[in-house]
Amino acid sequence: MTQLSQSVRLDFEDDIAIIRVENPPVNALSFHVRQGLLDGVTEAEKSDATAIVLICEGRTFIAGADITEFSGKPQPPSLQEAQDAMENCSKPVIAAVHGTALGGGLEVALCAHYRVGVTSSQYGLPEVKLGLLPGAGGTQRLPRITGAAKALQMMTSGDPIPADEALACGLIDEIVDDLEQGAVAFARRAVSEQMPLLRIRDRNDKLADTPPSLFDDFRAGIARKTRGFLAPEYNIRCIEAAVNLDFEDGLKREQELFRDLMTGTQSKAQQYYFFAERAALKIPGLPKETEPVDIARCGILGAGTMGGGIAMNFANVGIPVTIVERDQESLDRGLAVVRANYERTAARGGITSDDVETRMGLISGSTDMGNFADCDLVIEAVFENMDLKKSIFAELDAICKSGAILASNTSALDINEIASATSRPEAVIGMHFFSPANVMKMLEVVRGDATSDIAITTAMKIGRSIGKTPVLCGVCHGFVGNRMLFMRGIEAEKMILEGAAPSRVDQVLFDFGLPMGPFAMSDLAGLDIGWDETTSSGATVRELLCESGRRGQKNGRGYYTYDPDTRAATPDPEVEEIIAAFAERQGIERREISDQEILERCLYPMVNEGAKILSEEIAIRGSDVDVVWINGYGWPMYTGGPMFWADTIGLEEVAERINHYASTIGGAHWSISPLIEQLVSEQGSLSTYTN
Ligand code: 3HC
Ligand code: NAI
Repeated sequence: MTQLSQSVRLDFEDDIAIIRVENPPVNALSFHVRQGLLDGVTEAEKSDATAIVLICEGRTFIAGADITEFSGKPQPPSLQEAQDAMENCSKPVIAAVHGTALGGGLEVALCAHYRVGVTSSQYGLPEVKLGLLPGAGGTQRLPRITGAAKALQMMTSGDPIPADEALACGLIDEIVDDLEQGAVAFARRAVSEQMPLLRIRDRNDKLADTPPSLFDDFRAGIARKTRGFLAPEYNIRCIEAAVNLDFEDGLKREQELFRDLMTGTQSKAQQYYFFAERAALKIPGLPKETEPVDIARCGILGAGTMGGGIAMNFANVGIPVTIVERDQESLDRGLAVVRANYERTAARGGITSDDVETRMGLISGSTDMGNFADCDLVIEAVFENMDLKKSIFAELDAICKSGAILASNTSALDINEIASATSRPEAVIGMHFFSPANVMKMLEVVRGDATSDIAITTAMKIGRSIGKTPVLCGVCHGFVGNRMLFMRGIEAEKMILEGAAPSRVDQVLFDFGLPMGPFAMSDLAGLDIGWDETTSSGATVRELLCESGRRGQKNGRGYYTYDPDTRAATPDPEVEEIIAAFAERQGIERREISDQEILERCLYPMVNEGAKILSEEIAIRGSDVDVVWINGYGWPMYTGGPMFWADTIGLEEVAERINHYASTIGGAHWSISPLIEQLVSEQGSLSTYTN
């Protein structure tokens, strides 16, 4: 055995050389791995071995380039040197894959002459998720082995494919039971049968009959999903190059486009987000040995908009759910919505009709809270009313078994006050899902003053298990996400009175990359949420719209008027008149408002509030705020989230604009956060700020 570098060694199993990579946790291609690969192939080629197997220790094959190296100076050797050594080796090289062969890892495997993998292995080029493209020849090799259509799908989604699919499309040559034995046996066969030393770069057979319309059709198909992102388009251009140019020229094109992306802000933002999402799972001060409660059964109170969606999350991963409503009619209605949602997914091919029945079978409905007695976790999702929530938590306290976690899905209320209604405030926690709860990935986990480590660990862990992105935060009105949203709402409302059309405000935010603006969002949620006809006094535009029968999308009329068939939204002169008349009564002078002003007045109060949230230690770190906004509200990931975006603009400029609006418009939400001022003077940044 020869240790070639700190992470790579060379072994021999009789006539077969085995290059072993061990660079935990994911065998990323750090410089010492690249060096080890280069030396390993060189040594093995000089040795008496007849073939070479490349295999990895630990949980996975190489999962890509070492992302932490991207910000530093490139260290030799380059990956290409190691890849060239493999591809041009005079002895067969076989890559043996378990876990995930991702990014640079798959690109290394594509330079072997053959690939074998275990049944559970997966293969992908996820660079697009980091705002990049596979820059180590992957864009030219993958289409040559899978064909252009498959490569388009894999490279623009970044999602890995399983071993059977990889075998079917030619990406791997064999599925083996025992990885090392199987790979060694394959290597011996390659030698005995004198199998050719296949270099993917030399192949063109699968590209020959690529239909010319493939690329534009594909672009049209993903346009909505990838709006604003540069990397998907760049990946497509590389595959076009693979089809239209020879390998070397294609490689040059790949390098040019890779450099463009690598030096741009989008990939920096997306790489930042990769680590931000993982950092959010780390809770300082939480003892590592804290054992979460095992959630064998989950209870949900309220089968309305949120309760039904929350129940689906648990049923989707096989956890039985008891859902309790206040009366049979509400229960039946709620369960019917859940079934309809599942059936819609099945109709689109997302799940089978058997899955629908299995999942519905896991959800049992009741009107008796006594059925929560055997639940390990109960999530309350009734109306947003403190008195109601307190009386419910007092009842839960009497019913639920000792050790059960009691969670509220409240979107803004005080978890401490809710917990005070129980004799076990340590078991009470906020689990704030976002609507639609079965779709949105965000989960704010809200820790009260008395919430135990066990409750926090349980909520974070179960959140992950049901496929959410949990972020821990503290108690304040609206927590992280909604508290910032409220600030945007104040300015948006002011601007429509000052003269901006609601559709203009929405358009500016849509163009910025958000899925919709505040007025389209209000129409979607329903303008009458929290509105009471008996107390309505025409005090806001929203009240006025409700009073004139405009309830939002649900009745086809809100800030916009909706086409009954297509649901297309059109600005309505009647709404403009209502707003203008209201502004006149208020003595507000109307004027032209520029798009830049709209953007600044919507987004800077959010940044300011995010900073206040950080200095009050409601959020643990600036990047957590970004994770909330990207997953909860669809803030464009390619800008990194509101904190990273503000850093990109420059905090000095942000502070100057906030101070400008504080002096011209005023209001508490414009009073600048002392944290921003501090960071300006220290040249610090919001996105890296940690409490
Ligand atoms: N570089 C550096 N660190 C990495 C890494 C990478 N490529 N991939 C994962 N890590 C780190 C994570 O930050 C995490 O660190 P932490 O424990 O300190 O938080 C640790 O490894 C474990 O990662 P996960 O928590 O994500 O582990 P999982 O088991 O859930 O997932 C995985 C494993 C599927 C490999 C997942 O980590 C992943 O998707 N990694 C990124 C893969 C990727 O994007 N590869 C392409 C890189 S770009 C590239 O290759 C460019 C090339 O074309 C030139
Ligand atoms: P909803 O009105 O759609 O559903 C509430 C359900 O609770 C109704 O079906 C009602 O019959 C039931 N209910 C009321 N009192 C009950 C009782 N005593 N026992 C059993 N069931 C009872 O409300 P929605 O939108 O689902 O909101 C629920 C909670 O989730 C609220 O706290 C809300 O603030 C929060 N939330 C709402 C979001 C949204 O976008 N709708 C987003 C995130 C949180």
